[in-house]
Amino acid sequence: MVRCLELFETIRRRRSVRAFKGEPVKKEDLTRILNAAIMAPSAGDIQPWEFIVTTDAEVRRDLATAALGQYWMEEAPVIITVCAKEEASALRYGERGSGLYCIQDTAAAVQNILLASTALGYGSCWVGAFDEDEVRRVLKIPNGIRPVAMIPIGAPGERPEARSRRDLKRVVHSEVYGEQRF
Ligand SMILES: Cc1cc2nc3c(=O)[nH]c(=O)nc-3n(C[C@H](O)[C@H](O)[C@H](O)COP(=O)(O)O)c2cc1C
Repeated sequence: MVRCLELFETIRRRRSVRAFKGEPVKKEDLTRILNAAIMAPSAGDIQPWEFIVTTDAEVRRDLATAALGQYWMEEAPVIITVCAKEEASALRYGERGSGLYCIQDTAAAVQNILLASTALGYGSCWVGAFDEDEVRRVLKIPNGIRPVAMIPIGAPGERPEARSRRDLKRVVHSEVYGEQRF
């Protein structure tokens, strides 16, 4: 088993990485990353996610084009597209399922992918700015399945500084909204 970072250290070290060395992601690492994704919690344990793993260089370019020209993405040897199975969540939970739960469930899976990639020494980035119809076309995604995020993963070609965060005091309320005495 490959050694990896402790959880809080992983959370602290994670960055959006937008430059890659192009070395391949090991198959066993990719499997670990995807296994981490499916360990995410989901409403009603529906697990309304599917993942498309793209390694083909031409398709990576097409995905970068669909991501409104974020061509740095194509440098990554792997792009995982995370999809939400809206219909599966709607079947049990109606609009709340399709409009909220399946988005939250897949967001949790995305975060697990980012953290697992970081723990294994890879760079990654959550890409949400893309033309959904174009991603659907490129990846042949059927109706009822919504691409919600693309995640390029690879050996990091940059080590970005941490971006600052809004202070805890500004974002945590004590007991009720507006009581900021945390
Ligand atoms: C929903 C979502 C969509 C995002 N979409 C993009 C994107 O399309 N392109 C990009 O370069 N970064 C994207 N990001 C990454 C953010 O820009 C980044 O997380 C933020 O600037 C904080 O930096 P950090 O991730 O290094 O902490 C996205 C992040 C989230 C959560």
